[in-house]
Amino acid sequence: MNYQISYFDCLDSTNTYLKELAKKDARQGTVIVARKQTAGRGRMGRSFFSQDGIGIYMSILLRPEFEADKASRLTCLAAVAVARTLKKYSHDVGIKWVNDVFIGDKKVCGILTESATDANGELDYVVVGIGINLCAPSNGFPPQICNIATALFNEKNRAVLEYESIISAILKEFSNLYSRFDEQTFVDEYIQLSILWGKRVNIVQGDSRRPCVVKGIDRECRLLVEYEDGTSDTISHGEAVSIKS
Ligand code: BTN
Repeated sequence: MNYQISYFDCLDSTNTYLKELAKKDARQGTVIVARKQTAGRGRMGRSFFSQDGIGIYMSILLRPEFEADKASRLTCLAAVAVARTLKKYSHDVGIKWVNDVFIGDKKVCGILTESATDANGELDYVVVGIGINLCAPSNGFPPQICNIATALFNEKNRAVLEYESIISAILKEFSNLYSRFDEQTFVDEYIQLSILWGKRVNIVQGDSRRPCVVKGIDRECRLLVEYEDGTSDTISHGEAVSIKS
């Protein structure tokens, strides 16, 4: 992919900004990177901690030719691109279905894919947003996430040093996988990297939590689970899963 990258010191959200550009005909491969976000967003309306100088906050614009219902799989493709890149720095990288990259049992990266369709129901654009904790803030992660978040590096110096090379490595991996999207080459790797195999999790819907065991991930990257009453289910991308402690 031919990338055109713009760097910003501060944006509300790189996804929000890029979606505006997408509506004004920005081309596929437009990439927005910000050092800090004031309103970084995650899935399910959550916020994403995006403090100055400690992370990578970036969004990639795509104008895919494939069917709209496949857009959510780009989250999985991006997770593989990020995992491949972070593996160069850590031995313990895995993917927590559907959009989180973990180091050990903590989240180091979140991915937010947002798309829009035209009047015919065909994909107009997809924005893939990636947020990575490169190092922890000097006063630690905020209380809401300090038990679930981790960072790639212990020292801030390392984060500064590797910042640009990590961005370009992710973009390169992403481009390689995206160019072969039709072959779904990322799916096997996504399944292999999954940390949820055999784990007891909760399917979260609003305030309700339904316990189950993860049995696998199918070729469409949906989660296969078994509930306590022995019934099976296929969990699609719009749902959330929390690991039972
Ligand atoms: C999640 O954890 O649920 C997804 C987090 C995605 C965060 C990234 S940071 C860059 C881009 N801009 C945003 O506002 N969100 C994504």
